[in-house]
Parts: sequence; structure tokens; C-alpha cells
Amino acid sequence: MNSGPAGLQGPSATFVNKALASTIRAGYGWRVIGGVLVPATQGTEMAKRAEGKVALVTGVTGQDGAYLSELLLEKGYTVHGVKRRSSSFNTGRIEHLYQDPHETDPRFILHYGDLTDSTNLIRLIQETQPDEIYNLAAMSHVQVSFEMPEYTANADGIGTLRILEAIRILGLEKKTKFYQASTSELYGLVQEVPQSETTPFYPRSPYAVAKMYAYWIVVNYREAYGIHASNGILFNHESPLRGETFVTRKITRAVAAIKHGFQGTLFLGNIDAKRDWGHAREYVRGMWLMLQQDEPDDYVLATGETTVIRDFVSHAFEQIDVKLRWEGEGVDEKGICTETGRVYVEIDPRYFRPTEVDLLIGNPTKAKEKLGWTHDTKWQALCEEMVAADLIVVAREQRGNGE
Ligand code: NAP
Ligand code: GDD
Repeated sequence: MNSGPAGLQGPSATFVNKALASTIRAGYGWRVIGGVLVPATQGTEMAKRAEGKVALVTGVTGQDGAYLSELLLEKGYTVHGVKRRSSSFNTGRIEHLYQDPHETDPRFILHYGDLTDSTNLIRLIQETQPDEIYNLAAMSHVQVSFEMPEYTANADGIGTLRILEAIRILGLEKKTKFYQASTSELYGLVQEVPQSETTPFYPRSPYAVAKMYAYWIVVNYREAYGIHASNGILFNHESPLRGETFVTRKITRAVAAIKHGFQGTLFLGNIDAKRDWGHAREYVRGMWLMLQQDEPDDYVLATGETTVIRDFVSHAFEQIDVKLRWEGEGVDEKGICTETGRVYVEIDPRYFRPTEVDLLIGNPTKAKEKLGWTHDTKWQALCEEMVAADLIVVAREQRGNGE
């Protein structure tokens, strides 16, 4: 089993305690950047002293932020990650990348920041002088965006504008390349099958509409100011680090919890939807490739295969030796164990969306031909990896709870 970049480690107090201990010892001449103590001179000097390229990654604490940071560090970059202030631990996915700031030239540095705060973004970009910015931060949950449409527009739409304006205000148009985490959700009510860079958009959620603004402001700043700014139109990509409320991870966690006896039933919404699922590790490589091109452009990253949610559920249950048969229709549909007759999966209409994206399937030909991007992991292997990882995670959590 591949354990993913965070080694599947759950929350730990190590990071916080190290920083706290350092604070007590530090006295003057030190400052806290993103929860990490660094010498006061380091913030602005760090970028200059680094031998390799400097990248600024927003959304560093998310699934893609973790995989991308690991890739960039492997390539010799200094990585500045932007994380949100949180009252609870939110760096579990990047804990393994943590570096003691007392080390000479630490190459992974965290900063507090938020896409809704322009002044913060301008200061961070000024201090770090990045060669490349990867804008991965977003309120990324489609269903939640119906509950928080204004915040989603602010963070996911205007947030992108704030970074592009910061690049312009600081005169970095020729130095700093920009990657925008665009999405297959832009295709929404799909106008063409499969979807490519030329397929018209028809967004179906506040999230997708916000991302559509972001997409076009990237194109506009590229054309208006010559910024090397590219959109990666990424289809769904998953991993053991996927957020627990996205459907694949919700399924694989539930399967693991059922196997360990901690959960009885998995409640899902529309299991007729179809998605084009790839592995996040392979997709972050595509992001990096986009910024290594001489010219900026927009690219679809996808596998070209689509799968109905129901099949992902069945395959996940097969990993714990449960074969499901499906009975009933709509809200009455159930996933039943063929051997025992036990009902494992039920439909809860609370998970239905006001407007749904029924089918996504991407055509990655351009990325293959121009970037040389490839993907290897099939959705079945992805599902197997996620179930295997969650079997370990759930067992560890239960041990932690003393159960
Ligand atoms: P994710 O796991 O949900 O991570 C999102 C990241 O954004 C987290 O680090 C989160 O911080 C941060 N964030 C949220 N709101 C913020 C704000 N206002 N200011 C600063 N940071 C904020 O998402 P992901 O799966 O890694 O996806 C990365 C990006 O690609 C997102 O923009 C997403 O919309 C886009 N995308 C994802 C997929 C996919 O299938 N995964 C496909 C297409 C596009 P916390 O950790 O504190 O919450
Ligand atoms: N989350 C969730 N929970 N989705 C469910 C459930 C459930 O219980 N039951 C069925 N689904 C269906 C959703 O209605 C949707 O059709 C599909 O499963 C996938 O849902 P998500 O995993 O939440 O992902 P998404 O496709 O809506 O959005 C993800 O991919 C986009 C790229 O296409 C997110 O990562 C977005 O940020 C990303 O842009």
C-alpha cells in the first residue's frame, strides 16, 4: 500500500509543541511565520538565498497542496505554503514536510494567510518573491457552496483576482508564473462528451460559477498584462488524503469503519452521477508541467474514463469481501450484501444537490501532447489504495480513542 505523502499520520501536537518550545527559547530576533519560528531576517531573505526556484502554494494544507509541496521539494524548490489560521490542528497532511526553522535554509515554510485578505497576499508575495504561484486554495466542496455562496464567490472567485492583482502591483508580471486550480465543474450541464479545452462551460453550482470567474480573470490577466498564467481544468482526483466529505473518501472510510465494526450503514446521495477519477499525485505533476512551458495556456487533466458512483461503492465493499446487490430505485435504492442480506448502503436525499452535475469525462489529449503528461492509476486501483489506507486510519483512530 502506498501511504501517500503525509504517511497517513493523523493530527499530532509535535509541530505545535516544537514551535512553542522554540518561542520560549527564542527571545528577540525571531518572528513567527505561519506558526513556524524563523530568524527575523529570514522572511525576505529566504527567497534570495535559495538555490532552486521559489514557489508559493496557497491551499498547502489540502490534498493537492500536500502532494504538490512534496513534488516541488523533491525538485529542489523552496516552498512557501499559505495556511489558514485554525483553532484546531490543520497541518496533518503536511506534517512530514515540516522542517525545524533553526535548520540552515529551511525549504518548507508556512505562512498564515487567507484568500479573502488582499493585504496579507500582497505582503506574502512581496516577502517571498516567488518564481511560481500555485493557487490551490478554495472552498472546494460543491454542495457546501450552495450553503455559503457569498463566501465561495469571495474566496474562490475574487481570491484569484487578489493574487493576480498582487503580482501586478508588485511589478512581478515577468517574473512570477501563476497556476489556477480550475475545475471540470465548469462544464456542469455538459455541452459535449468528452469535455476538452474547447467545450463551452455551463456551471451548475455557486462553486462552479465562482471558479468560472477565476478561470476568465486568469485568461484576461494573461492577455492584458502578459502574465504567465495558466488554468489547469482538472477532473476529479482522489487519494488517501482526500477530504473526508467528498464521495470517494466518504465511501472508503465508511467501508473501513464497517469492516472494523464502528459503522453500520453508509448514507449517500445521487449514486447515478458519473465522474472521471484520477490519482492526485499524478495530477499535481501536471500542474507543475504547465508552469514549465515557455507559454502559458489552459489544459484539461483527466483519465478519459467515467464511472458511476454506484460502481465505486461496489468495488470498495469488495475490498472487505462484501459483494453488494442493488435493489430499489431513487431514494428507496439499497446496497445489500448478497451473502447475508444485510443492508449496507441507503440513500439520504439530504445529500442531493439543488442542481447536479450528472456526467464528467475529460479528454486529456492536449496535456498529453503538449506537456507530455500521463496518468497511470485506474479508478479501481485508486479505490483499493484508499480502502487499504482507511482500514489503517480507522483502526488507529479507534486505538487513539481507547476503544
Ligand atoms: P482541499 O483538500 O479542499 O483543499 C483546499 C485548501 O484550500 C485547504 O488547504 C484549505 O484550507 C484552503 N482554503 C480554503 N479556503 C481558503 C481561504 N479562504 N484562504 C486560504 N486557504 C483556503 O482541495 P483539493 O482537493 O486539494 O483541491 C485543490 C484545489 O483544486 C481547489 O481549489 C479545488 O477547488 C480545485 N480542484 C480540485 C479537484 C479535485 O478533484 N480534488 C478538481 C478540480 C479542481 P484548510 O485546510 O484550512 O481547510
Ligand atoms: N460529497 C458527496 N457526498 N457526494 C455524493 C454523495 C455524498 O454523500 N452521494 C452522492 N454524491 C455525488 C455528488 O452528488 C456528485 O455527483 C458526486 O458524488 C461527486 O461528489 P464529490 O465527491 O463531492 O465531488 P464533486 O464532483 O462534486 O466535486 C469535486 O470535484 C470537482 C472537479 O470535478 C471537488 O473536488 C471539487 O472541488 C472539484 O472542482
